[in-house]
Amino acid sequence: MTIYLNGQYMPIEEAKISVLDRGFIFGDGVYEVIPVYSRKAFRLAEHLRRLQHSLDGIKLANPYSDGEWTGIINELIARNAGEDQYLYLHITRGVAKRDHAFPSPPVKPTVFMMSNPLPTPPADLLHSGVACITAPDNRWLRCDIKAISLLPNVLLRQMAVDAGCAETILIRTESKTEDAFMTEGAASNIFVVKDGKLLAPPKDNLMLPGITYDVILEIAAANGIPHEVRRIAVAEVHAADELLLTSSTKEVLAITQLDGKPVGSGKPGPMFARLHSLYQDFKRNVMRAH
Ligand code: PDD
Repeated sequence: MTIYLNGQYMPIEEAKISVLDRGFIFGDGVYEVIPVYSRKAFRLAEHLRRLQHSLDGIKLANPYSDGEWTGIINELIARNAGEDQYLYLHITRGVAKRDHAFPSPPVKPTVFMMSNPLPTPPADLLHSGVACITAPDNRWLRCDIKAISLLPNVLLRQMAVDAGCAETILIRTESKTEDAFMTEGAASNIFVVKDGKLLAPPKDNLMLPGITYDVILEIAAANGIPHEVRRIAVAEVHAADELLLTSSTKEVLAITQLDGKPVGSGKPGPMFARLHSLYQDFKRNVMRAH
C-alpha cells in the first residue's frame, strides 16, 4: 500500500511521524473518509468543503488548495490497487513541544493520506439488515467537526460490538424539560421512516453533516419521496416503521433490530429497498458523468 505523507508517496511501512505530533499527543486534527468508485473520488467537492469546515472549526489553515488536494488524491488512487477504494485523509496541527495552546508561530501541519479497498456491505447484510443499540450521546457540542479525537465514538461503537450489534444510535438530552432526541450513529447518520415519510435530524452542531446523508435527501427530493428534516424524539426512533443507517463506507443499510426488538416487520422495508436501489443508480450516473 502506498500512502501520502507530507509531500511524499511511500510504502506504508516507511511512513513515520514524530511522537510529538499534536495528532498523537492531543488528537488535535481533522479527517475525511472519501469513497472511490471506478477510480474516481465520489462527491469530492463536497468532501473538500466539509474538510474546510472542520479546519475552520479547529482554527487550522488549509495546507492545500482544492486543486492541490484533487491532484494528490488522484495520484494516490492511481498508485493503489482496486477500482473501488476508500481514502482516509488526516491533517494535524503538526509537531511541537507539548503545550495545549497552539504552537506560536504555527508549525507545518502533518498531512497523511492512505487508500484501502472499499468494503461495501455484503449481500447478506443488505438482505437481513443490522442490529443496533441506543446509548446516551456523551460527546462534545461540536460534532459537526470531523475531528480525529474520536474516543467517545470509539467507546460508543464498542458498546455495539460488545452487544453483538453493528452500531450505536446516540440519544441526546439538552434540557430537563425537552424530550430526549436522536443525533446520529457512533460512525454513521440515522434516518427514521414513519408512515411512508423519511425523517432526518437537522444538520446542526450535534451531528456530523454526512455526505451520504445529503445524497439520500437529494435522492428523496428528486424522486418525490416524502421527507422532513427535524428533531426526532427517542420515542419516534423506537416506534419507527424502518430505520436506516448511512455512511461513506456502508452506503445505506436497514436497521432491523433495535435494543433487542424488531424494527417494524423486523426485515428491511420498502423505503430501504427504494433508497438503496436509487443510491446505486445515483452512483452509476455520477461516475458515468465524470
Ligand atoms: N464516518 N456521523 C459520524 C459520527 C461519522 O463518523 C460518519 C462517517 C458519518 C457519515 O458521514 P459520511 O456519509 O460523510 O461518511 C456520520 C466515517 C465513515 C469514518 O469515520 O470512518
